[in-house]
Amino acid sequence: MIIALNNKCNFTQEEFDEYQKKLKQLNTRNAQVILLPTSIYLSQFKDDNIALGSQNVSSHQMGPHTGEISASQLKSLNVKYCLVGHSERRKEQKETNQDINKKIKQLLAEKITPILCIGEKRSEKDIAINILMTELCEALIGLSQEEANKIIIAYEPVWSIGTGIIPSAEKITKIVENIKKHYPNNKILYGGSVDNDNIQQLSVKKTVDGYLLGRLSLQLESIQKLINELEN
Ligand code: PGA
Repeated sequence: MIIALNNKCNFTQEEFDEYQKKLKQLNTRNAQVILLPTSIYLSQFKDDNIALGSQNVSSHQMGPHTGEISASQLKSLNVKYCLVGHSERRKEQKETNQDINKKIKQLLAEKITPILCIGEKRSEKDIAINILMTELCEALIGLSQEEANKIIIAYEPVWSIGTGIIPSAEKITKIVENIKKHYPNNKILYGGSVDNDNIQQLSVKKTVDGYLLGRLSLQLESIQKLINELEN
C-alpha cells in the first residue's frame, strides 16, 4: 500500500522541523510512505522508512530556467518520486498534457518515478473515462511500454480535491478497473478528500494500490490511524 503525503504549500521552517521530527516516528508498518514536501524542504528530509518525492519538476534540463527545479537536481537530493499533472497546477499554472509529457520524460531519464495525476472536473462527470483516457494518452506519448509501466497513476476527481466530497466506492472501483483495462501494469492511487471518517466507506483498498493525501498529510495522528486501518 502506497501512502503519498502531498503537503502542498504548507508549513513555515519551524513548523516543518516539528512535522518531520514527528513524521520520522510514524509506524509505517507495510506501507510505502512517500513525503512530498514543499520544494524548499526537500534537502532537509532524510529517512530510511519514508521515501522522498517532489510536488513538481521542470520540463527543461538544468540551465537558464529561472525558478525551475530540474529532474537531475531532484535526483541529487535523493528524490525517488515526483507528482506531475496535479489539478492545481493544471489550473493555476495552466499546465497542459504536453507539458506533463515533457516532465515525465525528464523524470524517467533520471530514474525518478512520476506520479501522474488525472481527474475529471465536476462538469465532466458524465464523460469521466474519456477525460481520463485523453489525459493518460497525451501524457504518455513517445514512451516505451516499459517506461509507461513505471508510472504511478493517481486518480483524483477534481471536484473531490479539498471539498470533503468523495465518489462512491462503486464509482471509484469502476473507474479504476477501467483504467486498469488499458494500463494493467501500472499502480493506481486514489486521491481527493480522503480522511479517517471516509476511508472505510471508500473501502477500495483491494482496487487501488494506495492513496494520495492532501489535507490529511498535515495531520500525523490521522495518518497513523489511516495506516493502522489499511494495514490491518
Ligand atoms: P485533499 O487533496 O486530500 O486535500 O483533497 C488531495 C490532493 O490534492 O492530492
